[in-house]
Amino acid sequence: MSNYHIKHLEEYWQVYRKSVRNPENFWEEIAEEHFLWRKKWDNVLSWDFTKPEIKWFEGAQLNITENCLDRHLATRADKTAILFEPNDPSEETQHITYKELHKRVSTMANVLKSQGVEKGDRVCIYLPMIPELAIAVLACARIGAIHSVVFAGFSATALATRINDCDCKLIICSDGSYRGNKTIDLKKIVDEALEDCPGLTTSLVIKRTGGEVIMKDGRDKWLAPLLDTADSVCKATVMDAEDPLFILYTSGSTGKPKGMVHTTAGYMVYAAYSFKNVFQYRENDIYWCTADIGWITGHSYIVYGPLCNGATTVMFEGVPSYPDFSRFWQIVEKHKVTQFYTAPTAIRALAKQHIDFVNKHDLSSLKVLGTVGEPINEEAWHWYNDNVGKQNSPIVDTWWQTETGGIMISPIPYSTPTIPTFATLPLPGIQPALMDENAQEIKGNQVEGRLCIKFPWPSIARTIYGNHDRYRDTYFSAYKNMYFTGDGARRDAVGYYRITGRVDDVIIVSGHNLGTAPIEDAINEHPAVAESAIVGFPHDVKGNALYGYITLKETGEDRNQDNLCKEINQLITDRIGPIAKLDKIQFTNGLPKTRSGKIMRRILRKIASNDTANLGDTSTLLNPETVQEIMDNKLV
Ligand code: WT7
Repeated sequence: MSNYHIKHLEEYWQVYRKSVRNPENFWEEIAEEHFLWRKKWDNVLSWDFTKPEIKWFEGAQLNITENCLDRHLATRADKTAILFEPNDPSEETQHITYKELHKRVSTMANVLKSQGVEKGDRVCIYLPMIPELAIAVLACARIGAIHSVVFAGFSATALATRINDCDCKLIICSDGSYRGNKTIDLKKIVDEALEDCPGLTTSLVIKRTGGEVIMKDGRDKWLAPLLDTADSVCKATVMDAEDPLFILYTSGSTGKPKGMVHTTAGYMVYAAYSFKNVFQYRENDIYWCTADIGWITGHSYIVYGPLCNGATTVMFEGVPSYPDFSRFWQIVEKHKVTQFYTAPTAIRALAKQHIDFVNKHDLSSLKVLGTVGEPINEEAWHWYNDNVGKQNSPIVDTWWQTETGGIMISPIPYSTPTIPTFATLPLPGIQPALMDENAQEIKGNQVEGRLCIKFPWPSIARTIYGNHDRYRDTYFSAYKNMYFTGDGARRDAVGYYRITGRVDDVIIVSGHNLGTAPIEDAINEHPAVAESAIVGFPHDVKGNALYGYITLKETGEDRNQDNLCKEINQLITDRIGPIAKLDKIQFTNGLPKTRSGKIMRRILRKIASNDTANLGDTSTLLNPETVQEIMDNKLV
């Protein structure tokens, strides 16, 4: 039996039982056998969910890049580590070998050092999906700098908030980016953000589009000449197991984004272990995850997980619709991709196109298909299974979160029988629990409740940067001695989990986590707006779309509502990014509120979703008349 590589269902159960019976022993064996350590740990695990404090492999020393790069040089030096597929199919594919990646990471690490970056410093990375993004991430890890990657679709304000929250002193960015037939001036967005970031002193600029940029004297430097003169050998900085590896921001239901802190050893072990099993990765496979490295999926399953396993990982710069809707399938055929991991929203968008886009390509190399980010609906699951997998590639519906660092609930392909819309079983080491309204655990099968995890796993986020109280309040206060996920779930007759969706004010739009509060804050900045409430409603491609109920100030002025809608969406684009734009805006005379003044989103959600048959008791509201008014004027 191999704990590291599960190959059939009985083995899964054996490994799972062992991982629950003696978690320390289980993870210790895996850590011993499959990773490179400078020094082994003194203690496998210490934890206390009430503080909360979680430590894995305390006392151990390592550098994650030695695990991702150096240790492969003996056996895989000339193997492709990163296979870069550019936005424009006529631009050449790049095959970056382990040897070359090692050299480029080391060189970039030396540049960072020459710019004064030291262990523990925070470095912001704001880049398109080009190889330099992965290289920058690894270069930070090489020298113990904490990377904070910000998705390059975020606006200047959102970028500035993230830079300031964790005091980044340096940013790595590019002149621009390509997305389909669009060129985006990223450097302009960075310039605007940096006006509000007094603590950031250096920006290193990568040339991608060749677009015109303004270089601010003393602050902005082109990266290329610095790389040209830097040494290509860089000794890895020795890190403690619990030293922070990176910060990654995720939206909360209230307040500013949460900078989730992941630490080194536990994150590494779990990202690598889950990658190996969930994708059944074997030497010479070509693995492709279509996510952006700006999200946790890219961190764990484009960069760290695959590279720790010596895999070939595809990085795609473009979009599924350019030059046409066959792009994904063209890439699968071209590189004989074996594992393909994408989001339900992408599947739904592709399923709307003519089937020839799929059928004209040879997809027979595929062995495993994956999805992540939101519940996958049955129709999309079948389309993926029938047309992409030809009913011959198991689908892994992987449930996890930025906070969990790695996949938590997922089938093991070729072992776990799959059922559409079910994430199925917990991975070894993961102990889910369902909780009822009285905060009691619901035992047994065929039950539904709020999804918690009752025991720590190695890659759980350790804190929210600069705000440990918020970390405790958000994840560990709802249920005693449990990590609360914010999701609801059902456990079926055989113990399979089906995730039913968020139970808080986070809305997942096209697989992106959006908190309602920051969007409402942006809307409320508009001088004509008195108050607003955002809810999600079902959308056939995005999963959910945003519906805004907005009340205006009584100024007596007759405002053009079309213009107002545009201005409001522009404000949202400026403050957060285009992903948070509202699909529907309804102007109302009031919002339904409880007697204590709390907006009743539950009612607004039902109205937006055309589910008004059972609105519940509205008579206790402060202003029940608003409900009828809102229903009468609902947008179709
Ligand atoms: C939330 C976390 C983890 C990488 C991408 C999202 C939802 C994620 C699934 C799935 C149903 C899912 C949950 C979760 N979610 N995967 N397979 N089935 N829901 O990371 O932005 O931190 O969002 O995404 O609601 O809590 P994230």
